[in-house]
Amino acid sequence: MKIPFSPPYIDEYVEAEVIDSLRSGWITTGPKVLALQQEVSAYCDVTHTLCVNSATSGMMLALHWFGIGPGDEVIVPAYTYCATALTVMHLGAKPIIVDVGDDFCISIKAIKNAISPRTKAIMPVDFAGFPCDYDSILELVENSDVKNIFSPNCQNQRLLGRPLILSDAAHSFGAKYKGRMTGKLADLSVFSFHAVKNLTTAEGGAICINLPAAFNNQDVYSTLKLWSLNGQTKDAFTKSQAGGWKYDIVYQGFKINMPDICAAIGLAQIKQYQNVLLKKRNEIYDYYSQKLSAFNWALVPKRVTENAEGCGHLYPLRIKNCSEENRDRIIEGLAKLEIATNVHFIPLPLLTVFKEQGFKIENTPVAHSLYVNEISLPIYPQLNHEMIDYLVNQLSLLIDEIHR
Ligand SMILES: Cc1ncc(COP(=O)(O)O)c(C=O)c1O
Repeated sequence: MKIPFSPPYIDEYVEAEVIDSLRSGWITTGPKVLALQQEVSAYCDVTHTLCVNSATSGMMLALHWFGIGPGDEVIVPAYTYCATALTVMHLGAKPIIVDVGDDFCISIKAIKNAISPRTKAIMPVDFAGFPCDYDSILELVENSDVKNIFSPNCQNQRLLGRPLILSDAAHSFGAKYKGRMTGKLADLSVFSFHAVKNLTTAEGGAICINLPAAFNNQDVYSTLKLWSLNGQTKDAFTKSQAGGWKYDIVYQGFKINMPDICAAIGLAQIKQYQNVLLKKRNEIYDYYSQKLSAFNWALVPKRVTENAEGCGHLYPLRIKNCSEENRDRIIEGLAKLEIATNVHFIPLPLLTVFKEQGFKIENTPVAHSLYVNEISLPIYPQLNHEMIDYLVNQLSLLIDEIHR
C-alpha cells in the first residue's frame, strides 16, 4: 500500500475558489488575500493579520520591522528548520542557537543563559504544532534584569523596552496554549501555509500582530503591508483601477506579497479547518498514539498537555534506544514498501551553513538526542485507520528485524 508523506488536501471547495479567482480577472494580491487575512484574524482572535508569500519572508519582515541588523543577536532553538535562523542571518544579525527540552520546544533555561545586551528577539518554534511555554518566555523578557540590559536602537525597540517575542508558528495553525490560539501568544507570530502545512496556499505565510498597548496594531499592519510591496503606497489592485495609476515609493521595501490565486486555496480550507481538517488530523494523531502505545519501543509524542493542545502538524515518533544508523535503516525499509516517512529536524548545528558559523552539536545535546531516534510518520486528513494499521504493523516488523 503506497502511503505518501503529506499530500495537499484538495477538494471541490478548493477547486471552486481557485476557479473563481482565475475567472475573476484578478489573480494577484486583492480581495481573496483580504478575505483570508480576515478569516485568520477571526480564527486566531487577533485584530490584524498580513498574508505574505512564505513564513520565511514573513519572519524576515517582522525582524526588519523591529530594526534588527548587524551587531544584534536573536535566540533560536537548535531543533527547527533552517529558515528560523536564516532569516536572522539575512538581516546581518547573529542567531544564538540554544537547546530544547524533551518536548522539542525551546528551553526556558537555555534562553535565560543566552540573553545578552545584544539580544533583540527570541524566536520560539512551535515544533510539530505544539505551542511553546509562552507565559514563561514573556515572564523572562519582562524581568527587570533583562529589561535593564536591553539596549534599544530604534523607536520600535524603545517602545517595547525588551526583546521581541517572534513566534515561528510555521507548524501551529489551530493550536492552543492556556485556552488562547496561536497567533495571539507572542508579540508577532508567523504561520506557514506551505504545501505540506495543515492549512495551505501552496506557498505562503501570515503574520499575526498582537503587540502590547504601546503599539497601534493598525499602524503596524499598514507599515508591514507597505514594506511587503516594495514600499509602494498603492497595491497593484488599487493601482489597476481606472484612474488609479499614481503612486509613490516611500520605503526601500521587499516584494513578498501573497497572490489571490494562492489565497483562494487557503480560503476554501480555512472555512472547513476547525470542523473537518483539524478534527480529522487530531483523530489520526490520537489513533496513532493509541496503536503505538502497545509497543515498548515507542516513545509516543503528546498532543495534549495540561496547558497546551497541539494541532498535529507532525507525528514525531521516537524509537527507544534506537541508534541513528538503525533509525535510517527503518526509514529505508519503509520506503521500500512505498511508505514515506521523514525526520524533523536535523538540528541546525549539524548543517554545513551553521557549522561554518562555528556552532557545535555538543552544545545542544538534547536536540541531538531527540534527532537520532526520531521518525515523523505521515499525518493528514486523507489517511484512514486501515492505512495506519498497515503502517504501524510494517513499522513494528521492521523494528523487530533491525533494532532488536
Ligand atoms: C519550523 C519552520 N519554520 C519556518 C519554515 C518556513 O516556512 P516557509 O516554507 O513558509 O517559508 C518551516 C517550513 O517548513 C518550518 O518548518
